[in-house]
Amino acid sequence: MKTEFFSKIIYRCRQVQRAWRPRFSPAELAWVDAFLTPEERTVFLEMAPADRRHALDVARLCRQAVGEQFTEPLTAEEEQLLLKAALLHDMGKRNGDIGLFHRILYVLLAARLGKYKGFHSWPLVGKPLAVLADHASLGAQEATRRRWTPALVALIRCHHSGGCDSCDKSRLFSLLQQADNRC
Ligand SMILES: [Fe+2]
Ligand SMILES: [Fe+2]
Repeated sequence: MKTEFFSKIIYRCRQVQRAWRPRFSPAELAWVDAFLTPEERTVFLEMAPADRRHALDVARLCRQAVGEQFTEPLTAEEEQLLLKAALLHDMGKRNGDIGLFHRILYVLLAARLGKYKGFHSWPLVGKPLAVLADHASLGAQEATRRRWTPALVALIRCHHSGGCDSCDKSRLFSLLQQADNRC
């Protein structure tokens, strides 16, 4: 139990550290340009630099894991879905003006309070913290409004939870969660 608590803290601290000064290589930017549709690219580019850096790291780990973990490779469609989910899974964070201060505060609170979502009533910092807590569901709602595929919506909605009928036990779901937890 204590180990889980401290590994959560370490994970969150790493996220904050990466949020400090994210960098992108020309090759990464070219790949995103070529890989995403214009609409998806717009959403991706609206994400905060720290979230884009995180998304690219998750996509890189997913790609690595695809080759390492399965004897039966993913189909081209599955791999495309997985990488889109990696790039867009945190799009819900665009719903709040989330700064480094909020990320640090959330790290300290959320690691302690788990899935606590009663941040809305907090003065000054309530909205960004609530968005951080609800970003998976906010992202899935927007993806649904944009009529993205149900499989992509499900991966966005469930990336911090135990899954749903659409993604439970799917290889893509576990790959996404494993990569997300390592970044
Ligand atoms: Fe997330
Ligand atoms: Fe994430």
